[in-house]
Amino acid sequence: MTKITLENISHSYDGGKTWAVTDINLVFESGRRYALLGPSGCGKTTILKIICGALRPTKGQVYFNDVNVTDYPPERRNVAIVFQFPVVYRMSVLKNLLFPLMNVDIPKTEKLKKAYHVAELLGIKNLLDKPAHRLGLADKQRVSIGRALVRDVDVILLDEPMSSIEPDKRYELKRLLMEISKDMKKTMIFVTHDQTEALTFGEKIAVMSANGRLLQFGTFEEIYHSPAHEFVGFFIGFPGMNIIEGRVIKEGVDLGPFKLTLKERKLPLRIGEEVKVGIRPEHVRIALSQTEGYIPFDVVYMEDLGRRSTILHLRNQNVLIKARISEEVAGISKVWIKIPEEYVIFFDRSGRRVA
Ligand SMILES: Nc1ncnc2c1ncn2[C@@H]1O[C@H](COP(=O)(O)OP(=O)(O)O)[C@@H](O)[C@H]1O
Ligand SMILES: [Mg+2]
Repeated sequence: MTKITLENISHSYDGGKTWAVTDINLVFESGRRYALLGPSGCGKTTILKIICGALRPTKGQVYFNDVNVTDYPPERRNVAIVFQFPVVYRMSVLKNLLFPLMNVDIPKTEKLKKAYHVAELLGIKNLLDKPAHRLGLADKQRVSIGRALVRDVDVILLDEPMSSIEPDKRYELKRLLMEISKDMKKTMIFVTHDQTEALTFGEKIAVMSANGRLLQFGTFEEIYHSPAHEFVGFFIGFPGMNIIEGRVIKEGVDLGPFKLTLKERKLPLRIGEEVKVGIRPEHVRIALSQTEGYIPFDVVYMEDLGRRSTILHLRNQNVLIKARISEEVAGISKVWIKIPEEYVIFFDRSGRRVA
């Protein structure tokens, strides 16, 4: 069982000119499942390499169960890593599975038992004597995962393991990983840029920004309903949160063509300061005729998502808003909207949540 603590981790690949990740603080509790979510290039792989010991961070410390392992080589960390592109050796699937046990001091029969057990778990028993390098990508990835599982590691890191797999085989692999990980009691960190994968896999999700900073660490519920940063609101959701720029006025926020009047909420900003209003498409109220307190918007585009769900792309001067509706609507060119105060998340100019 291993708890992993990252303390003030920053990494630069070019001697401090640019930073791949900056000031990351995270605690991964022992035996739990986590997702590390962020756009391409945000530093996810860098963090995994720092955890497994392939990379020494420029700054900061890594602890395993409160032991400082920052200077430990990978062999001393007991971590397995599964990469985006499956890594298999040019030998049979069985030999691939036995490979990580080569230097483990247990009888051959024990090793075979472990290999068969893992093959069973991963549904590759029928492939054991096939040459691994001739398999399709999805099966190759199963073998890679098998090689990670066959050792008694405490920590398994998965770096976008699904993204190179044929799309029609991803679901099956995802289900399998979920099943295995649930009763494995290993600390697992699953890296992805796909929010659905993060949500399915991670009990808690760490969301990173494009520039290598940690923006929020929480359950999907928390990051969905209480984004700590504008980017989290925008990045999570289908489509993401609307972010409308405005200025603080006495009665609320001036959004240009209309005002958002606040009765309950207080903003910790001065009058005249910039503020960003975040509202999820499903929380925008829609009226199909003129209604007291509602603002007229032109319908620019209707995106039918099926199952009685439509995204309306709306415009009023320079303000663009997406709204989700579940009623049947056809051929409408104008709607009236209301932004309910209770659902708004306010961000300051830098994107940090302020209310
Ligand atoms: N070996 C390397 N040398 C120089 N820059 C690198 C290296 N690996 C990654 N980077 C840079 O560090 C940043 C983070 O990369 P990475 O951790 O691979 O992100 P992600 O896995 O989220 O896509 C990117 O800007 C990338 O170009
Ligand atoms: Mg990566």
